[in-house]
Amino acid sequence: MKLFIDSGNIKDIEALVAIGIIDGVTTNPTLLAKEPGDYRQNLKKICDIVKGPVSGEVTAVDVAGMLREGREIAKIDQHMIVKVPLTRAGIQACKTLSDEGIRVNVTLCFSAAQALLAAKAGATYISPFVGRLDDVGTNGMELIREIVQIYNNYDFTTEILVASARNPIHVIEAAKMGADIATCPPAVIDMLFNHPLTTIGLEKFLKDWEKTQAVHGVDAVKA
Ligand code: G3P
Repeated sequence: MKLFIDSGNIKDIEALVAIGIIDGVTTNPTLLAKEPGDYRQNLKKICDIVKGPVSGEVTAVDVAGMLREGREIAKIDQHMIVKVPLTRAGIQACKTLSDEGIRVNVTLCFSAAQALLAAKAGATYISPFVGRLDDVGTNGMELIREIVQIYNNYDFTTEILVASARNPIHVIEAAKMGADIATCPPAVIDMLFNHPLTTIGLEKFLKDWEKTQAVHGVDAVKA
């Protein structure tokens, strides 16, 4: 399963990409609005760092506006993916842009019916928001299970990009269900690394090793 960073912060992205486990980046208007500088230049920098798919979202709500913005976003870098919202206009724009060879990520997906429409419109990615569904008392991961089944039934090539992931359980469940990608904020990626038994175990290994060095260390060898 691919792992994307859900952030527009250059420093956070640089630090995580350096580890070597990141496949791409997703942004949205809220995330980009937090960062200083021109958003197009920031997206270009992110593409240069990650050298994989980077989603940048249109803010127009009509088809013509989405197409205009989408084509501009696609020109920023070969790695750019155009993100459009799952509205009637967004689905129409997705179909047109996809037919032109521009890769589209359809975002703000909250139902299996919506995911079916995005696949039919040729979306490269569908972004179901699992955390926001959990927030309103609906099991977000159940939606992922439904989309996996529907896409498998018809061999749709649209990749399932689990978004609004808030904790490691979202990521683990996504992997178990066979989702293609999970996109996570840096804080959630940090959580994936952590386990208290790893910390305790490493502390003990190092303490035990220090004791060995006291007995068989450099001075002991010289004597
Ligand atoms: O980028 C879209 C999505 O991941 C947003 O997550 O936590 O704001 O619901 P969140």
